[in-house]
Amino acid sequence: MAFPNGFVWGTAASAYQIEGAAAADGKGKSVWDMFCRRKGRIWRGQTGEVACDHYHRYAEDVALMKRIGLKAYRLSISWPRILPAGTGQVNKKALVFYDRLIDELLAAGIAPWVTLFHWDYPYDLYCRGGWLNPDSPDWFADYTRAVVDQLSDRVSCWLTLNEPQCFIGMGHQQGTHAPGVKLDLPDVLRASHHTLLAHGKSVQVIRARAKSAPQVGWAPVGCLSRPATTDPADIAAAERASFAVDSDSVFNTAWWSDPVFLGEYPADGVERYGDSMPLIAPDDMETISQPLDFYGINLYQGGSVRAGDDGEPAPVPPAVGEPITLYEWSVTPEALYWAVRFCHRRYGKPIVVTENGLSCMDWVALDGRVHDPQRIDFTQRYLRKLARAIDDGVDVRGYFHWSILDNFEWNEGYKHRFGLVHVDFQTLKRTMKDSASWYGEVIHTNGQSL
Ligand code: GCO
Repeated sequence: MAFPNGFVWGTAASAYQIEGAAAADGKGKSVWDMFCRRKGRIWRGQTGEVACDHYHRYAEDVALMKRIGLKAYRLSISWPRILPAGTGQVNKKALVFYDRLIDELLAAGIAPWVTLFHWDYPYDLYCRGGWLNPDSPDWFADYTRAVVDQLSDRVSCWLTLNEPQCFIGMGHQQGTHAPGVKLDLPDVLRASHHTLLAHGKSVQVIRARAKSAPQVGWAPVGCLSRPATTDPADIAAAERASFAVDSDSVFNTAWWSDPVFLGEYPADGVERYGDSMPLIAPDDMETISQPLDFYGINLYQGGSVRAGDDGEPAPVPPAVGEPITLYEWSVTPEALYWAVRFCHRRYGKPIVVTENGLSCMDWVALDGRVHDPQRIDFTQRYLRKLARAIDDGVDVRGYFHWSILDNFEWNEGYKHRFGLVHVDFQTLKRTMKDSASWYGEVIHTNGQSL
């Protein structure tokens, strides 16, 4: 298999999903803390109050990462833990926690990849208008500065935002995620524009203040299509569909990545949105399109598309009985092949798969182990397709499996188990699943064992 020397093999997680300690040591409230209090919004009324208690058990968790043999670990920093009010006074106890976590990772020979924002927006800032407030990009830049000043002597890999399609689309348009509002299209696009400005300002702060040479990117959702066949017409149709902005949903790739990597909003979206477009100040697109070092992509599945009789992309419905995960997401390893290939061609940057994985209904078997053959088979299939993309010339630099631990899956609570490591949420006991050992061998052989 084709993985280059130095390929970054890791796992990913996020602060609110694993840390717990939701009010410890001066941490401020996030929109997710408040959303979990709203009746009926989270499966079985579950919350991230405790989660995996990673805040107190991080040393044990890093030891597990070392035992697996990870080369890197993608964590997120909790904005309201660092800045309880979202701006202003920095919480020194939060800096101590992240200092210790980073030092533990480095001592284990694991490179920290830090995501600055993974959805746990400070509630105090939400109450001041949140992403709709024109000051929100500067709020995020100030937060970036606090983190970079503290950690950038030891952290050199940075991701600004995780999945704006989700925290805007589900959090501010559909209302199914925190903060649970349903804005109309002009406000959705205005909030989106502010998140893009926040991303750009954050990159500027990292480049200006990082103490060690930074590698900077971000982690959008991989909203991309795969061709129904290898017929060139179907491939062309899937590529067109992958970058189309043809609905009022923000679950697409180009509306987000074209401004960041190409410096402009995609023409089809601008035409469609018309009067709903946000006001764009003269320097906005330059701010948004700060140079990045890689294209991060969170890819789980991809819809099938063929060339219609009229030459337009035509979606192909899922086959009856197709394999699906517990989330009912299709198992489509070829989606990873085409996603990295299409994004590499459009945006011209090295690719890092910043999330990929599946949720299963894992439990500890009578033999005391956690057998997860589906996770092994799923991951082997996706990684084989990734290897083929590399063989076909796509510059892929790394792969982060989602996730290291079973964790809080947002409005689904703890229903979905994504971890390589099982967590008993009554006792918080960690148990490595069979997939953890399997992934360790993949890492040890740099993909040769696939
Ligand atoms: C996402 C988020 C993660 C999820 C994971 C499984 O991609 O939605 O980054 O926080 O937990 O993807 O849904």
